[in-house]
Amino acid sequence: MKAYKFDRSIELFKRAGNVIPGGIYGQRHPGFMVPGHFPYFAARGEGCRFWDVDGQEYIDYMCGFGPIILGYNYPKIKEVVNKEKALGDCFDLSTEKMVELAEYLVSLVSVAEWAVFGKNGSDVTTYATQIAREHTGKKKIIMVQSEYHGSHPWCSPGYGGIIEEDKANTLIFKWNDTEGFLELVDKYRGEIAGVIMTPYHHPVYADHEFPKDGFWEIIQSTCNKESIVLILDDIRAGFRLHLRGSNEYFGFKPDSITFCKAMANGHPISACVGRDELRKVASRIFFTGTFYFSRAPMAAAIATIEELKAIDGINYMFKIGKMLQDGLGQLAESHNLKVSITGPPSIPFMRFKNEDNFIRSQLFCSECAKRGVFLHPHHNWFISCAHTEDDIKKTLEVADAAFRAVKRKFGK
Ligand SMILES: Cc1ncc(COP(=O)(O)O)c(C=O)c1O
Repeated sequence: MKAYKFDRSIELFKRAGNVIPGGIYGQRHPGFMVPGHFPYFAARGEGCRFWDVDGQEYIDYMCGFGPIILGYNYPKIKEVVNKEKALGDCFDLSTEKMVELAEYLVSLVSVAEWAVFGKNGSDVTTYATQIAREHTGKKKIIMVQSEYHGSHPWCSPGYGGIIEEDKANTLIFKWNDTEGFLELVDKYRGEIAGVIMTPYHHPVYADHEFPKDGFWEIIQSTCNKESIVLILDDIRAGFRLHLRGSNEYFGFKPDSITFCKAMANGHPISACVGRDELRKVASRIFFTGTFYFSRAPMAAAIATIEELKAIDGINYMFKIGKMLQDGLGQLAESHNLKVSITGPPSIPFMRFKNEDNFIRSQLFCSECAKRGVFLHPHHNWFISCAHTEDDIKKTLEVADAAFRAVKRKFGK
């Protein structure tokens, strides 16, 4: 097999550096992967594969960082989007599709009695915290350490341009630490507007953790008792655990839920849904953006969720993801390497147990990338309905070679 090269990616990155600060920003920056060992620019996608600007093919386990859930270029969704776009996408007014999508989510999601739409996850997580503040008249928002709710200053993990005051009302406790949570509630009683959490703990650079027994029960009952708004951030896990919200998978009831990523198979849309008690305050918040009302992504969202239902997408992704998780575990064992495989099968993550610096993961993923399998060394992966058993078999062959390279370099 011809070794992969990234010449055109590197050339484009140099050009980008002249006109775009940092060349590429955010989590697409090459520094978040392994510079020089991964492509930097994509050219096209089909099913569970994409091709980079050097013309090389990859089985993709990042799925655009989550959105691609049915597969790139999925014909049914493409058809729906093209039909809407032919009529016009962006108008002076909103369209009937917005009402249809809101009705659809209200009938689908049990806690949803209304729905509002944005473009990105950060739009709706911030909006959900504003609702909590408007509803309670309180300022503080509790979140979990290392959880990501977006790039807005109150929760951004970055530093640039953020001042102390931005985070002055954000309180932090550790995942599964019910005592820590109750202490915060006690200490700041009367000041807390909302709690925002992901359905399970999926930080970057760390194992993923499920809620321990009774964890969500304590969070929910405390929020109810103290009149704190419980916000579920389902932006990353949404539609890969349960179609009606990941709270159904873990058995709890938040007051509002934010969705984005996989909602429309890559078309730009996010949503915040909530209980009736929050409807009035939701309508008082000035929430808008130039493209929030575009029609095609709304149609794509309905079509995507309907298709996931029709093909039993959740169970399929669990089956395929489990095959990958089990296969990687067995391969690692056969090479006498210790790995930790966490997360649900549809959103898996693997790291090497005997390191904190991820250098084995970086080598492992680089070796996979140059053989046409795109895995991230620091961030969880995503399974789509387009991955087949055959793709997993090919991936495991590549992983075998990558584990061998890790063994050769590090010994254990
Ligand atoms: C759990 C979670 N919340 C919020 C966000 C922010 O979404 P966006 O990047 O679309 O603003 C993300 C993005 O990765 C996320 O994973």
